Amino acid sequence: MPTPSTRPARKAVIPVAGMGTRFLPATKAVPKELLPVVDRPALQYIVEEAARAGLGEVLMVTGRNKAAIEDFFDRHPELEAALEKKGDASRLEAVHASTDVAQVHFVRQGEARGLGHAVLQAAAFVGDEPFAVLLGDDLIDARDHLLEQMLQVQAEHGGSVVALLDVGRENIDKYGAVAVEDAGGDVVAITGLVEKPPVDEAPSSLAIIGRYVLAPEVFGVLRETPPGRGGEIQLTDALATLVERGEPVHGVVFSGRRYDTGDRLDYLKAVVQLAAERDDLGPDFRAWLTGFVADLPGAGASQA
Ligand code: G1P
Repeated sequence: MPTPSTRPARKAVIPVAGMGTRFLPATKAVPKELLPVVDRPALQYIVEEAARAGLGEVLMVTGRNKAAIEDFFDRHPELEAALEKKGDASRLEAVHASTDVAQVHFVRQGEARGLGHAVLQAAAFVGDEPFAVLLGDDLIDARDHLLEQMLQVQAEHGGSVVALLDVGRENIDKYGAVAVEDAGGDVVAITGLVEKPPVDEAPSSLAIIGRYVLAPEVFGVLRETPPGRGGEIQLTDALATLVERGEPVHGVVFSGRRYDTGDRLDYLKAVVQLAAERDDLGPDFRAWLTGFVADLPGAGASQA
């Protein structure tokens, strides 16, 4: 029996090498991770989430055309001096918050050969301890403590932990899908994983959403994982190998608030939802939105 790890996870890995083709032409010169969700780049929410969970060391796995991400997490002395001179304390604080949130490191992926390959680039940074992987397309509401719960589950059971969401059978082919031992509570033992299965072959409607806490053993497995779905080295395949070897892999079934920023429609929904819930912008935005929706053609008909 593998013994639960006594080492707590301290580090987070965020793959940001994707080309962002779904947001072209916006992403021709701006990395998709820096597209604003209200007034912060999507990526800042992710780094803040890692930091809140106690993961203050963050590695971004970047690629070509991602230099703006490094600039974003760097200090900007001229801007800070200008804000200071103007006495604009709140904006100065916002600028500081974006750099002080975590210790951010960078490594280049070189070739984009899939999520598993991106995670493998973190091997030297992570060393021999469990670590988290956060994918930028999924934003988890700050009021829900998914990553904290996953870290607790990892500390208790050892091995690896993934975040799961019931996306319904019709949507499962867009995700990594899992088979689980009888799902009673929100923590489940995973017995199999498959990357983006055809709907009629999916083991369940439980999908992996973009949060993982991984045992360092995953690196050795990733080195031997051949390209899978889409010709890419899949993290899901490496996790399936760990399960086959008898290593514990658990899932935390999430029932909180998740905002998907992966495609244009979901991104728009995320921006509207998060803006509507903000203390500062929310009241005015909700008032405007209510009127806007009431004036839409077909308003008053039953909701889609
Ligand atoms: C990746 C993973 C997939 C997971 C998804 C979550 O896919 O390969 O298993 O379900 O993230 O967002 P991608 O969305 O990068 O194609």
